[in-house]
Amino acid sequence: MKDIRKDFPILTANPKLVYLDSACTSLKPSQVIEAGMAYYREFGACGGRSSHRLGRKTNDKLDDARGTVASFVGGESEGLVWTKNATEALNLVANAFDFSKKRKVVTTIMEHHAVLLPFMKLRDEGKITLEMVPCDAQGEVSMEAWEGAVDGETALVATNSSTNTTGRRADLRRLASLSHDNGALICVDGAQGVPHNRTDMKRDGYDFLCFSGHKMLGPTGIGAMMARKEHLKNLKEFMVGGGTVSTVTCGQANYMNDHTRFEAGIQHYAGIMGLSAACQYLKGLGMDEVAKHEKDLAEAMLKELKDAGATVYGSESMEKSAIYSFNIRNAKAHDVGLMLDKMDIAVRSGFFCAQPGMEAMGAHDGAVRASGYVYNTLDDVKRFGEALAKVKALY
Ligand code: ALA
Repeated sequence: MKDIRKDFPILTANPKLVYLDSACTSLKPSQVIEAGMAYYREFGACGGRSSHRLGRKTNDKLDDARGTVASFVGGESEGLVWTKNATEALNLVANAFDFSKKRKVVTTIMEHHAVLLPFMKLRDEGKITLEMVPCDAQGEVSMEAWEGAVDGETALVATNSSTNTTGRRADLRRLASLSHDNGALICVDGAQGVPHNRTDMKRDGYDFLCFSGHKMLGPTGIGAMMARKEHLKNLKEFMVGGGTVSTVTCGQANYMNDHTRFEAGIQHYAGIMGLSAACQYLKGLGMDEVAKHEKDLAEAMLKELKDAGATVYGSESMEKSAIYSFNIRNAKAHDVGLMLDKMDIAVRSGFFCAQPGMEAMGAHDGAVRASGYVYNTLDDVKRFGEALAKVKALY
């Protein structure tokens, strides 16, 4: 991967910083920041509403962004609904899905809370039944376990394409076929997969794909729920308001049939344009190059973690991004995070909004997580290893 650190103002302003918290949120390149600012500076109007020239320019930019973002994940622009993040997108699918004929949802214990909680809430309200497929001690969910859970009663399968704890990448093509063979649809949490791995929702048979901009070099506050466009008409309204209706009388609202039915109110236009710029930036790097770079980072990170005698969660044989959750013997995870910060290494500690999965892997008090991305170098990993050795020496 070419040296792109100069594109990231935070790295320029903090030359000693080793940022290993990209699974929480990624840094943003100038190209993304400028694309968002350009909206405010140059046209700044409402989308889909005003016919003046600034409104038309905003519409054109939004149409371009819709096409760019949809094609980045192999989807159709008509199936894209803007949301504020993956969490909102997953809540949209959970609450808009029609469970009137079949009520069973299958997910796994290894999901982020953004997947688990919307469905647990529906279960607790008596609206669905929920099966959580267990994982092994390394956090792996086997195909046999999925086959035992997905059946003719299943309405929806919801799972991640990559975890935020072990970085394990899933090839979901077999699971999509299993779901469809049983008359179920599949909703993929792509929050950690889309930024790191080439995603093609059409090729892989995803019915819904949810992701956030901020983990893929884009702005915070913007994400998307991508659906195969034929599914949109079967979703119920979720959040309603301006822009979601064709006509309204005091007695009746007639809702739109397309994505606008789910995009209530004025949208985060600057964020949409920033996310489009992030997709273009990643496309310029090449997603295969991104994945290869992360493989190199992951191998180097694992070596440093082993040298430090760390307990690493997840199996070594996993196809994965450069994410490791770990503990240093006798050290509290938050203390390790603070010590690393003193040495200019930024990591996250805790349960990473994935407590059931972390507990299933034995991390009952949480863990430290180091997560690399396109701007990290092997030199960053070396400095991470040196810092870990200093932490280890204290315990
Ligand atoms: N989902 C984000 C994380 O894993 C916040 O850290």
